[in-house]
Amino acid sequence: MRFRSEEPADRQDIHRLTMRAFADPDSEKEPGEAALLAELYECEGYLPEYSVVAEIGGRVVGHAIATRGWLDGDIPLLGLGPLSVDPAHQRRGVGVGLMAEIRDRAARDGERAIVLLGHIEYYNRLGYEPAIPNGIIPSDPSWGEYFMVLNLSEMPLPKGNFRYAEPFGV
Ligand SMILES: CC(C)(COP(=O)(O)OP(=O)(O)OC[C@H]1O[C@@H](n2cnc3c(N)ncnc32)[C@H](O)[C@@H]1OP(=O)(O)O)[C@@H](O)C(=O)NCCC(=O)NCCS
Repeated sequence: MRFRSEEPADRQDIHRLTMRAFADPDSEKEPGEAALLAELYECEGYLPEYSVVAEIGGRVVGHAIATRGWLDGDIPLLGLGPLSVDPAHQRRGVGVGLMAEIRDRAARDGERAIVLLGHIEYYNRLGYEPAIPNGIIPSDPSWGEYFMVLNLSEMPLPKGNFRYAEPFGV
């Protein structure tokens, strides 16, 4: 398995796998994550080096993206998501590998922390903890323990009101 930054030629593959990963078997509707991704590419918070693909045998099988979010409008953090693994390649470490790649890039770049909204058990294992008790407050506090943070520095986490990149709408 190989991880690398997304290239323009990957966009179609990434769109396809995002559609497949988030498909609702009870609905024909395009998953919201696919539209969100298209908007993230165009927004101010887009950071090309934080749009990472996983390749197996030259095929793109997974994708993760983190974009610029802000605490109280002046402390930069990374907001992670969507994270998608092709259903045919799930449960083989692709998701964990993508998360490790984003974490390593962020740590190398001196980023303070990554926040995300997601499955508690999955991200707990990767070192994420509830953000709200740490003083990082999302625009919708009902996210509760699903809103999580990973501290990348030795310093205590900064506190404040977090806002994702604009396309998240929150
Ligand atoms: C969630 C997702 C990214 C995980 O990626 P993956 O490559 O399948 O997972 P990995 O192989 O890296 O990790 C597998 C481990 O995570 C666990 N896991 C997988 N999906 C999980 C979930 N939704 N909740 C809790 N644990 C989960 C598995 O039990 C497995 O642990 P085990 O090996 O002890 O059984 C992938 O299943 C996916 O794309 N799902 C659909 C889209 C989605 O939900 N994205 C995340 C939004 S927060």
